[in-house]
Amino acid sequence: MRSARKGNHGTKEQAKLRGKELLLEILAVCVAMASLVLVVAYEQRARAPAQGPPPPDSVQEGIGIAAVSEWDPAYISVYYPRTENEQVDRAVRAFVDEKIAQFRQGEQPDSKGSDELTVSLKVTRFDDDIVSFLFRSYTHYTGEAGGRSDIDTMTFNLATGERYDLASLFRRQADDYLQALSDLAFDGLRDLAFYQASELERSILRRGTAAEAGNFTRFALDGDTLRLHFPPAQIGSGANAADRCEIPLGSLKHMLARRFLSPRRGGIAPPEPEPDIDELEGQKLIALTFDDGPHPELTPLLLDFLWEQEVHVTFFVLGCNVEDTPDTLRRAAAEGHQIGNHTYHHKNLTTLGPERRRAEINSGAALIESLTGQRPTAMRPPFGEYNKTVQAEADTPLIFWSIDPADWRTRDADKTYQHVMERVQDGDIILLHDWYPESVEAAKQLIPALKAQGFMFVTVDQLLAARGGAGPGEAVRKRPVE
Ligand code: NI
Repeated sequence: MRSARKGNHGTKEQAKLRGKELLLEILAVCVAMASLVLVVAYEQRARAPAQGPPPPDSVQEGIGIAAVSEWDPAYISVYYPRTENEQVDRAVRAFVDEKIAQFRQGEQPDSKGSDELTVSLKVTRFDDDIVSFLFRSYTHYTGEAGGRSDIDTMTFNLATGERYDLASLFRRQADDYLQALSDLAFDGLRDLAFYQASELERSILRRGTAAEAGNFTRFALDGDTLRLHFPPAQIGSGANAADRCEIPLGSLKHMLARRFLSPRRGGIAPPEPEPDIDELEGQKLIALTFDDGPHPELTPLLLDFLWEQEVHVTFFVLGCNVEDTPDTLRRAAAEGHQIGNHTYHHKNLTTLGPERRRAEINSGAALIESLTGQRPTAMRPPFGEYNKTVQAEADTPLIFWSIDPADWRTRDADKTYQHVMERVQDGDIILLHDWYPESVEAAKQLIPALKAQGFMFVTVDQLLAARGGAGPGEAVRKRPVE
């Protein structure tokens, strides 16, 4: 095995031993005066104690480092993370307490302080919210020839407190993920000289990476890499056996859970399949529409939520806002949302002369097409104001709404939610604005609630395709089954 005492850990061990010698000197003086118990618990943020083992491998934004340090009767030095999420901290602390309790069970009553437990911490991140903690521990009891190394990992969502086990990284339907990990791990390590040189070691590797959940309980996410860790002897005997392997998340993308695939991480998500219109038959359909964006901060947050919920909506965007948020518009289109035209400057079309009117409509549509590659197939006139001239000139249906909670006026997520929930029916088109935090919040409440009532979310185009279509200039407010 590549043990915790090798590589850069070697210098740590030396530093720890130096620290320990110093502590023993201090202890000798103290023992002359009285028997003494020193228990020092450091709980400081992003800074290691001045004595004892060196600081953890990495200290990360929003994560503080705490330590348990004791040196009588045994030497205990455990580093662990402190986050801003209580649920996470409780789980971590329970792990630390258990680790120390296990160590104490094997402690020798007459060991004179030379039993030891050291645990180092490494923090890696998948993204702002999801972090992995890697604990390398070393246990040694007095009189034993060698100590024991071990590895433990924990992966959390700091926003929700959720802890991820390996299975939760994968889609529920992906029942072959263990086989995929097994193949990737074995193939990734077998070419190392250590395994090439020994059939026995290869057979240990084969067994230790077999497609069984118990072989892959230790893992960490680090950017777009899934790192599998193996405790000593699991995948080889001897000091040079591997103790980890790295798997690019991209090689698992067909089976990863959606949370680990978001295109905000560089577009590794598979393309969205076009919905089959036949699947919409007999369903309760609903089209959420968001006007006046994109908003530079709120629209990306809404897109994150829609992505996780696997819901597609329609954005009626303003050209003047798209100018500032081209990437957000491209992202919305790439993630399967419909982009409709809400004109360039949000002028009342019925009050404009023919030149201005056509310019407002066409420049909005042209900008959308230049960014998404697709001419918009729906338009919503600003303020819902239109007349026969606007209808006659339009080259797409005019899309209005059947439920308007006036979210822009109330600026109250609960009122918006109540308004919609009291009225919602099959075929409704709901008007919201991704320009207000309260409206995005309302959408976050509405979507799960409407799903629970059996509604299926569709874009305006899908609603029309499933419910009879609409011609250019046709005013559409709702599409129930006829
Ligand atoms: Ni508007």
